[in-house]
Amino acid sequence: MLSLRSEGVHSLTVEDIVDNAMVLLIAGYETSCVLITFLLRYLADEPDILGRITEEQEEIARNKRPDEPLTWDDVSRMKYTWKVAMETLRTVPPVLGSFRTAIKDIEYKGYQIPKGWQVFTAQVVTHLDEKIFDDPSKFDPARFDNQSSIPPYCFVPFGGGPRMCPGNEFARSETLVAMHYLVRQFRWKLCCKDEGSGKILLRCLFLGSQLNLRPEAPLNMLMLKLAHSLLCTAIRFSLLLSTDG
Ligand code: HEM
Repeated sequence: MLSLRSEGVHSLTVEDIVDNAMVLLIAGYETSCVLITFLLRYLADEPDILGRITEEQEEIARNKRPDEPLTWDDVSRMKYTWKVAMETLRTVPPVLGSFRTAIKDIEYKGYQIPKGWQVFTAQVVTHLDEKIFDDPSKFDPARFDNQSSIPPYCFVPFGGGPRMCPGNEFARSETLVAMHYLVRQFRWKLCCKDEGSGKILLRCLFLGSQLNLRPEAPLNMLMLKLAHSLLCTAIRFSLLLSTDG
């Protein structure tokens, strides 16, 4: 970006550079970090789902040498794990919503939207609509068994249209790779009291102008390092999982 800036009239301004750096830092880092944090948080209370994820990841690991890195094919086989991640994205979308600017006067369902106004779409409006997702407050990855049953533009954690998140495949890969190593090497439990996910989400909605969702309080978790055959050998460390740092 700095070299483009020195190339004349088409170069980037300092503002452009700062803007791009912020997009990568916030759009590329905070989002996946929130997804993995909430995945761990949900799985702490869902032993059956965690068991199925572990089975899927162990099956993939069985076909590899211990030091062999994961391949794109391996990641494509992590279908159940991704359904659980999608259910996490549905209930706690890391990006609360997206803006669009009206480039001309438009009318939508009787509402007049003047040119230049910004329209804000919030993911949770459809994600938590019971007409679209049956029993929306239930954490149920099975609802993604038949994805074609979800109407277009109703499951939109990565936005939609031409400005949809360009990092969505990367986010999928990094989340699945992280889960591969986490579920095979650790077990964890929440150390905070009664931190219901509904409470977390509600607080996030009240944040107003802030677009990224965060846990209401730091998610204190105790991580247990597993020995072979899922036996806990020792408590190695306690992690403070929070997007605040
Ligand atoms: C779970 C992870 C992620 C989620 C939920 C997410 C979600 C989103 C959403 C909702 C938007 C706005 C889309 C719209 O306006 O329709 C967006 C934009 C964007 N995301 Fe992501 N994102 C994630 C990960 C990433 C990663 C890993 C990167 C880059 C490495 C990235 C880069 C971007 C960029 C550059 C934009 C702006 C695109 C534009 O305005 O044309 N995102 N993301």
